[in-house]
Amino acid sequence: MKTEGVSKTRRRILVAATSLVGAAGVGYALVPFVSAMNPSAKARAAGAPVRADISKLEPGAILRLEWRGKPVWVVHRTPEMLETLPSLDPKLVDPGSAVPQQPEYCQNPTRSIKPEYLVAIGICTHLGCSPTYRPEVAPDDLGADWKGGFFCPCHGSRFDLAGRVYKGVPAPTNLVIPKYTYLNDTTILVGEDGEGAA
Ligand code: FES
Repeated sequence: MKTEGVSKTRRRILVAATSLVGAAGVGYALVPFVSAMNPSAKARAAGAPVRADISKLEPGAILRLEWRGKPVWVVHRTPEMLETLPSLDPKLVDPGSAVPQQPEYCQNPTRSIKPEYLVAIGICTHLGCSPTYRPEVAPDDLGADWKGGFFCPCHGSRFDLAGRVYKGVPAPTNLVIPKYTYLNDTTILVGEDGEGAA
């Protein structure tokens, strides 16, 4: 009995000591982490613009960034991808982007500044899932009419390669296009309008 009592007491002491060390460890772990956030990291967290280097973005590929805690996509659209866009108009809810889901300078048939690059917020306008990039034409699971675009796995909303929503799906509007500008031919700044932008 005594032995058990001693061992219980020792165990309590050991548990308390371990907890203290654990708490101290967490404290030490947090302090360097917070102080290690440099000014640019803090600014990014607060919503500062982010740069996208598109110099290595192959035709047909997608680049994923984060801006204001949201996914942002840059897609390098091929000439073939761009050619399909006008043919989809009759199947879309808002083919002309009448609803202001984009800056004025992107209210055009490709919803972009330069047709070959789509910049869009990767959040479904239904309930906020992030759609999947599906650039293939007519894959088995999406059907023969699929010309490439974005498919939301949550409730099946479909968007074309300009982020325009198809009719008959739960999402009510096109994907949002953030404000952005080109700093040069291979760098996009997401989160800021360019000079002279409306
Ligand atoms: S959240 Fe995308 S279809 Fe519902």
